[in-house]
Amino acid sequence: MKETEYIYLTPLPIRIWHWLNAFGFVVLALTGLQIRFPEYVDIFGDYKNAIRLHNAAGFVVSASYLLWFGYYLFIARTLTKLYIPTLEDIRSGIFRQALYYFFNYFMGRPNPHVSTPEDKFNPLQKTVYLVIMIILLPLVILSGFLLMYVTPLRGIIHLVGGIKTLVSIHFLLACGFCSFLFVHIYLATLGHTPFAHFKPMWHGWEERKKEHEGKDHEEQP
Ligand code: HEM
Repeated sequence: MKETEYIYLTPLPIRIWHWLNAFGFVVLALTGLQIRFPEYVDIFGDYKNAIRLHNAAGFVVSASYLLWFGYYLFIARTLTKLYIPTLEDIRSGIFRQALYYFFNYFMGRPNPHVSTPEDKFNPLQKTVYLVIMIILLPLVILSGFLLMYVTPLRGIIHLVGGIKTLVSIHFLLACGFCSFLFVHIYLATLGHTPFAHFKPMWHGWEERKKEHEGKDHEEQP
């Protein structure tokens, strides 16, 4: 008989960070679209409104980033354990997981990775999340901050190649984030039900069916 077990996967601070961050990103993307293409896009009325809203959303994303970083580094102390791929992850885990997403999932085969609170992410997630959270997100925040204070920070802007280079870097990073978002949301629907991975992001708990002790691996999507 199948039993349901519940695993507490996502602590409250991470859920608060994630949804503030997701909401902030959607606002940044829409306002950014209007700021970049004002002749084609008019979602927020006045151009200055779009800039004000963009800056406010930038602050929300930056402040919530500090929550994510502070929580994992100083409170849970699991940042390196959860987010840094092992050699084995890089040598074969990434390939195994990609094969699952591209082929084995469609053949109804089980997910090679089973999430636990100590090993939450599969090798592909670890690698992508690491790049996003430790390199790209700080870079987009930093470039946005420089663009908000062009006059007082012109010395630093000059060092990175001037305002045009900075605008291009910020725009390319934003495009990268938009592409990530589509793939991220699609892959998040590939659980044993389309919302299986969304639930722990909402109330913290992952629901898992297990037939016999030690056989729960085969029940994974
Ligand atoms: C509307 C937008 C978004 C939705 C619907 C969404 C959905 C989800 C879901 C369902 C999960 C849990 C499954 C998983 O780990 O893949 C998750 C986790 C995660 N998402 Fe998102 N996401 C969104 C935006 C973002 C953005 C903009 C970022 C980063 C810039 C992001 C970064 C992450 C990270 C790092 C995790 C793992 C968090 C942890 O447990 O430590 N997400 N997201």
